[in-house]
Amino acid sequence: MTRWYGEDLAYIHDVGHAEFALSSAPGILEILRRSEIRDGLVVDLGCGSGQWARELVDAGYRVLGIDISEAMIEIARRRVPEAEFRVDSLFDADIPPCGAVTAVSEVLNYLFDEEAGGLTPLFRRVFEALVSGGVFVFDALGPGQVPSGTTARGSRVGEDWAVLSEREEDSERGTMERRIVSFRKVGEHYRRSDEVHRVRLYEPSELFAELGEVGFEVRTIRAYGDYPLGENHAAFVARKPA
Ligand SMILES: C[S@@+](CC[C@H](N)C(=O)[O-])C[C@H]1O[C@@H](n2cnc3c(N)ncnc32)[C@H](O)[C@@H]1O
Repeated sequence: MTRWYGEDLAYIHDVGHAEFALSSAPGILEILRRSEIRDGLVVDLGCGSGQWARELVDAGYRVLGIDISEAMIEIARRRVPEAEFRVDSLFDADIPPCGAVTAVSEVLNYLFDEEAGGLTPLFRRVFEALVSGGVFVFDALGPGQVPSGTTARGSRVGEDWAVLSEREEDSERGTMERRIVSFRKVGEHYRRSDEVHRVRLYEPSELFAELGEVGFEVRTIRAYGDYPLGENHAAFVARKPA
């Protein structure tokens, strides 16, 4: 079991944080259709519990979902039995030939693999895997999530869970740390789990340039269809030229 998105946080993400994937789905499906990708394989990196994979399969695509969290993949397999799922790091996994690759909800920001070495090697692997005219759609958090020198605290409560979080940004390193304490009701009691997630914050202009160097035609967007992204959160549509 990995140290991130263990059983309880994976459950809480699935029941309490599905909104991002579900609200983004119509806009991303529209991007695929406009790119003439109407069926065939879509590889979803950091697929989580398969919320977006479900939408893709229902829209007629085949899906390979890859996620580093076994607990997330377990939920995804139950939700989308028609799709294929693998527990693997997106920085290592083979990406088979496909029409589109997606990474939805700040997946590429995570520093679960410390030695991943930036995003350019991943961009190259995605470029190689895509058919001509294929698209890579992802979103990423940029710097400015938390004012310097402060701690942002948050909490959320669901029917059988609660989450407390603290976020701090290190603007010199371009990283942010999230300390997450979750409580999930099991029987009569609440079970506590603690996780620490480190993320790298990427300047959109740098990602834009890196994607271009790899050979993609790139555009940045501020919303997936009607669903606006938050402040300092940009999405990218990177197309492999036909
Ligand atoms: C915020 S969740 C988003 C999940 C899903 N895409 C969604 O929209 O519901 C981020 C996901 O990225 C996964 N992740 C982070 N780093 C990863 C890596 N190196 N390889 C594979 N998955 C990763 C996490 O395990 C988690 O499931």
